[in-house]
Amino acid sequence: ITKTDLLTSTGALLLGVIGDPIAHSKSPVMHQAALSALGLPGSYVSMHVKPGQVREAIAGIKALGFRGINVTIPHKLEVIPYLDHLDETALRIGAVNTIVNDNGILTGYNTDGIGYVRSLKEEAVSDLRGKKIMVLGAGGAARGIVYALSLESPGSILIANRTADKAEAMAGEWKELADIRGISMQQLPSYLNDIDILINTTSVGMHPNMSEAPVDVNLISEKTVVSDLIYNPLQTRLLAESEKKGCTVHGGLGMFVNQGAYALEYWTGMPAPVAAMRNAVLKSMA
Ligand code: ATR
Repeated sequence: ITKTDLLTSTGALLLGVIGDPIAHSKSPVMHQAALSALGLPGSYVSMHVKPGQVREAIAGIKALGFRGINVTIPHKLEVIPYLDHLDETALRIGAVNTIVNDNGILTGYNTDGIGYVRSLKEEAVSDLRGKKIMVLGAGGAARGIVYALSLESPGSILIANRTADKAEAMAGEWKELADIRGISMQQLPSYLNDIDILINTTSVGMHPNMSEAPVDVNLISEKTVVSDLIYNPLQTRLLAESEKKGCTVHGGLGMFVNQGAYALEYWTGMPAPVAAMRNAVLKSMA
């Protein structure tokens, strides 16, 4: 991809994110910093798209000459019928968070899971082979993460969910990729003392409900690495209490930055300026 391929005839690289709600997204500040660091003229804008308006929004992306967009809650599934291609990862996860527009041909990707796994490996557990992993939650975020983790040769993945059926269905779908099992929250305590990595994918503990934790931290072994996808707050109650016990902890900021970095690489073909992106997000949260 050359710079001239990326830019519209007016000389700008157009990028953005669609979601509902979208006002508090940190993606614009992160990607604007990335464009500056890469010396690319362009804009990354937040676009509030309500449910039922996704088809028109996607047509608008093409008409306006956007090179790429991110897709966030609640549109990650709804966009799929309007795309021309889906890459293998997005297809398996069944959700799209990144769209690349090649002269009107739209391809959907999912960078959430690979972004998370890259962050986990860089910041907390460099080698996931043989690890016993427990994932809390079985929603959209969990799907991306469990799929990406299953490709890392883990020892086992247990998915614990309030609605156990959903955890079992997800485990069944990918059982040929890894030893994956679904359990209920009631079964969870009996497994917790023998888990290498515990990952919270639920929204429990997210701003503004920061006094909540998805699991009783007293049940977690201090040998377990505790990871939370939430990055607002940077330190959730789960992470703060686990750290106090002596656990290694890993927050969600790295996943957010890396999912954006992979998206930017799909759009531009250039290595993402990850440090500049992370710093921009941190500065906006200070
Ligand atoms: P996301 O895309 O963020 O994963 P989602 O698809 O709505 O959002 O999934 C939310 C997940 O968090 C689900 O696993 C949900 O559990 P259920 O399947 O039982 O609904 C879980 N979750 C949300 N709020 C929760 C709560 N208060 N306690 C326990 N689990 C919760």
